[in-house]
Amino acid sequence: MKKPTATLPRAVIMDCDPGNDDAIALLLAIASPEDFNILGVTCVGGNVPLEQVCINARQICELAGRPDMPIYSGCTKALIQEPKADNSHGFSGLDGTNLPAPKMPLQEEHAVTFIVKAIKNHPTKVTLCPTGPLTNIAMALRIAPEIKENIEEIVLMGGSITSGNITAAAEFNMYLDPHAAFIIFTSGLKVTMLGLDVTHKIAASPKQLAKMRALNNNPALQSANMLEKTQDFDMHNFGTSGRVVHDPCVPIYLIKPELFKTKKAKVLVDIFHPDHMGGTIVSFHKKHTKDANAYVPYDVDHEGVFDIMIERLGRYTK
Ligand code: BDR
Ligand code: CA
Repeated sequence: MKKPTATLPRAVIMDCDPGNDDAIALLLAIASPEDFNILGVTCVGGNVPLEQVCINARQICELAGRPDMPIYSGCTKALIQEPKADNSHGFSGLDGTNLPAPKMPLQEEHAVTFIVKAIKNHPTKVTLCPTGPLTNIAMALRIAPEIKENIEEIVLMGGSITSGNITAAAEFNMYLDPHAAFIIFTSGLKVTMLGLDVTHKIAASPKQLAKMRALNNNPALQSANMLEKTQDFDMHNFGTSGRVVHDPCVPIYLIKPELFKTKKAKVLVDIFHPDHMGGTIVSFHKKHTKDANAYVPYDVDHEGVFDIMIERLGRYTK
């Protein structure tokens, strides 16, 4: 049976593969209890292998002062193919940090089982916030399609209107599991795709890193260190002015959608052509948007996004 729409704070599941920008997305969501009631953090193999992702997620929750956060280990690999992509987050996924080994436990239940149960049991609809490959979410939808009616929406980081960052066609999260992405975009759910066209406008400049450091709390300092440590990759490959902060766009979009210019679009995910696997083809034309399947932000107020990032990171006291 359909459950009521969530009022603020909205119930969310953070599905991620930290990864330094996933880590910052988590820190922002945890610092925003008026916006998010985080039911759990579900991990998926992506930026680094799953085992390391689960270590990183726990390190970040401890850094945020939330050793009580339920964290679940999910799918190690894509549904069908096993693509290889370069890792731009360093060997650990959180290069630049100096966090202690985590003490908090990993939950025993599989992430996909948790996603299904949490959506079924929560009294209101749940918003899914994926910032990694979409394998866990696609699996949950295949195992229990009836959960769809209790999903408020999916707001994801991935894809692009123009070119990819792994191949000319595909962005990393789509490239790593194109079939899972295909399932999400053909699910009939409300999907918002925060792709490279907006995230590439959120590069952390030296001025923004300095502002983060000036907050002088550990989550902000570790965030600035991670971004600085890995910035050469984006500056060299994409000509950005610093490290691109992709995944925080998900919580920030949910906090203040008016920072983004968004249009309805028809989005196709390529799962057929070997050279385009995971590429997103986006049309805003009227001819196609009569059966639009996504909301696609195409521009963003870069300063506004950083202002929220700084304000929320500034809420940490240690
Ligand atoms: C996406 O790929 C990963 O490397 C980042 O964490 C982000 O989710 C950007 O393409
Ligand atoms: Ca990610």
